[in-house]
Amino acid sequence: MAEDIFKQFKEHSVAEFFKKNRQMLGFSGKVRSMTIIVHEYVTNSLDACEEAGILPEIFVQVEELNKETKDHYRITVKDNGPGIPKSHLGKALGQMLAGTKFHRYIQQRGQQGIGAAACTMYSYITTGQKTKAITCHRGKKLTADISIDFKGNKAVVEETSEEPTEETGLLVTAEFKDVRYERSNQGVYEYLRRTALANPHCTITLMDPNNEKSVFPRSVEVNPQKPFEIKPHPLGITTHDLLEFARVNENRKVSSFLQNAFSRVSAAKVDELRTICTEVDFDKDPHELSWEDAEKIVKSFAKVKWIAPAMDSLVPIGKERIETSFRNIFNPEIIVVTERSPRVYRGGIPFMVEAGIAYGGGLVAAEKKGEVMRFANRVPLLFDNSGCVISETIKSIEWNRYNMKNFEEEPVAVLVNLLSVHVPYTSAGKQAISNEEDVADEIKLAVMEAGRTIQRHLSGKRRAHEIATKRKVISRYINQLSSDLSDLAGTKNKKDLLARLEKIVDEKYSQEDLGEEKGEVATKDSAKVDEGEGEE
Ligand SMILES: Nc1ncnc2c1ncn2[C@@H]1O[C@H](COP(=O)(O)OP(=O)(O)OP(=O)(O)O)[C@@H](O)[C@H]1O
Ligand SMILES: [Mg+2]
Repeated sequence: MAEDIFKQFKEHSVAEFFKKNRQMLGFSGKVRSMTIIVHEYVTNSLDACEEAGILPEIFVQVEELNKETKDHYRITVKDNGPGIPKSHLGKALGQMLAGTKFHRYIQQRGQQGIGAAACTMYSYITTGQKTKAITCHRGKKLTADISIDFKGNKAVVEETSEEPTEETGLLVTAEFKDVRYERSNQGVYEYLRRTALANPHCTITLMDPNNEKSVFPRSVEVNPQKPFEIKPHPLGITTHDLLEFARVNENRKVSSFLQNAFSRVSAAKVDELRTICTEVDFDKDPHELSWEDAEKIVKSFAKVKWIAPAMDSLVPIGKERIETSFRNIFNPEIIVVTERSPRVYRGGIPFMVEAGIAYGGGLVAAEKKGEVMRFANRVPLLFDNSGCVISETIKSIEWNRYNMKNFEEEPVAVLVNLLSVHVPYTSAGKQAISNEEDVADEIKLAVMEAGRTIQRHLSGKRRAHEIATKRKVISRYINQLSSDLSDLAGTKNKKDLLARLEKIVDEKYSQEDLGEEKGEVATKDSAKVDEGEGEE
């Protein structure tokens, strides 16, 4: 009976949902779960330090609590950031969908307001233990134990002590089961190594379960330029967004609301919109906008020309820093880094791609082949490789065009960092980026641009090798030829003949070198084909 079914009807909180679906937060598999915990804490520390203008010093400790089962650990992460005020500590670490980032258009590593509470949840559901936090903020050091009331998605905070301090920062420490420390490609060490690679301004120290200390020291003494917050661009919003913004705005007229709530809306633009969208009264109270009004305004947004969103809101790692990091890690034969100009996806969300390719040298020695290093806002992405637009795009490139027969078999490493005020992750676990067409196109262009320089380098190298081999073979013959000829003619001028023949060989190969130069120009032309400007 239908009535009986509805006796079962219940409401649930987001905390209950993620408790049941922890894999959606990335908690699946022991090694992965361990890395995800460190990732959530470390990204929070980096965001907080950078926002407060502090050079990050992060300490990570992983202690093994059960040497037999090898799945019970304590994880501690400490930073020198601004700490969290007492008033917000519980919500920050024990309530899902709460934080300082979700509602803002700013390039940060966190963007959902879930990560820290997800770790508190995972600790609680696997060990029954509370997460301990020590926050040093504005002269006060507060120690508290935090857990979650799942039914209400509320933090439960028990303050244990408060004392004065001159330090600032946050320390979080918690016990976890169903996790494992491994020094593998997807383990904590590799995660921190890649974090250091993309964040050369931070110092990270790892104390592993064997009490072995690894330090990734900063190589740059200044924080990167601070990304700044922008307002949403009209082309990136929906009818519902517009109504939501209108509901909380404090302007008296639609015209001033549009100018204040969105970027690039000037008084002149509002006048232009008025002429297109004549059915809506732009002088009325924005709180009185109906769904139909909002729909008409959003439609009219698509009919006018807009200046693109402020692109300097994005801060890349930078060419030099990527080159230095590549050199430090792989010491390759050649490094090429490209930085594309910022663009927008979904009509109004700014993003930018930087890509680097390292080839040969140390990669051969380290037996590294076809390595893809994915980053989003400088955060290494170690999981869900196959569902990510970065790996998919790299896979779709015809690498034989760039003198690499089989990408997976070549001593090559490709790094791609996607920057955006909103990274379109495929899930709350934030390990893969969805296939937005504009984003995929930019990744492809960035990697191909770097690929072309690698190709020129490789074909130049191959050519030089061919010339050297030919020269060696011919030199062998001309020696014999000059002595046979001088014998035949009875002139006894073998030395003179040999010198003249050598001159001919020299001239011939320098001409071939010129031919190689011509070949390079042809390569550049074919580059245009890659960018869709012609046919192959
Ligand atoms: N180490 C820290 N120092 C200062 N503030 C912090 C720190 N860690 C977390 N916070 C605060 O707690 C909030 C919640 O963190 P949480 O990781 O849950 O979400 P987020 O970082 O906003 O987004 P995401 O879920 O994508 O990580 C943050 O937005 C930030 O305001
Ligand atoms: Mg976070």
